[in-house]
Amino acid sequence: MSEARPKQVPRRQMLRGAVGGLLGMVGVELLLGCEFFAPTAVPGQFGATIDAGAKSAFPPALPAQANLDVQGIFNIALAKAYLVHLSAETPLLLQGAALKRLLASESWTKDSDGSYWLALYQKCVHLGCRVPFRDDCHSFKCPCHGSHYAVDGEYLDGPAPRSLDRFALSFQGDHVIIDTGKFNNMVARPMNQTRLISTNGTDCSA
Ligand code: FES
Repeated sequence: MSEARPKQVPRRQMLRGAVGGLLGMVGVELLLGCEFFAPTAVPGQFGATIDAGAKSAFPPALPAQANLDVQGIFNIALAKAYLVHLSAETPLLLQGAALKRLLASESWTKDSDGSYWLALYQKCVHLGCRVPFRDDCHSFKCPCHGSHYAVDGEYLDGPAPRSLDRFALSFQGDHVIIDTGKFNNMVARPMNQTRLISTNGTDCSA
């Protein structure tokens, strides 16, 4: 009598089994809280809190005198943020309760010496290009499609649907801490009567 040959699993069935197994593993990972996919925020890296440095390293300026990495505005590469430090004498266009409300909704932090801090995300809210600061017009102008933002990140003109996004900012002793895991992406295009600083000197058409 001839020996019975082991039954072969058809190739298509094997393939189906392998795909099924893979999908099953992915399903389990999803059920376990997406740990398979979600990057974990590493302290000191983008996505977590970042110590930008001592306050004294960032001298304040009036909006019309902001000069990148000299005064008023600073590139914090690790945080992909511009740290804005406006002097206490900054002329603000609103007053009283309306001003207080707007400063809070646009994530401005007022310091004990009266100066103002902001941490703006460098990513254009139109299609995501990195937005450079232009010293010649004291504002941000996106090289991709021309979106233009004031030194405090408020929308000026161009296709962007809103003002620049901003990260949560706090102080730890005399250091400035930027929380790149928390950001405000709800700052609308301002209307003329709800703009915080003057647009004078921000013409970047040249
Ligand atoms: S990505 Fe900045 S204007 Fe389009």
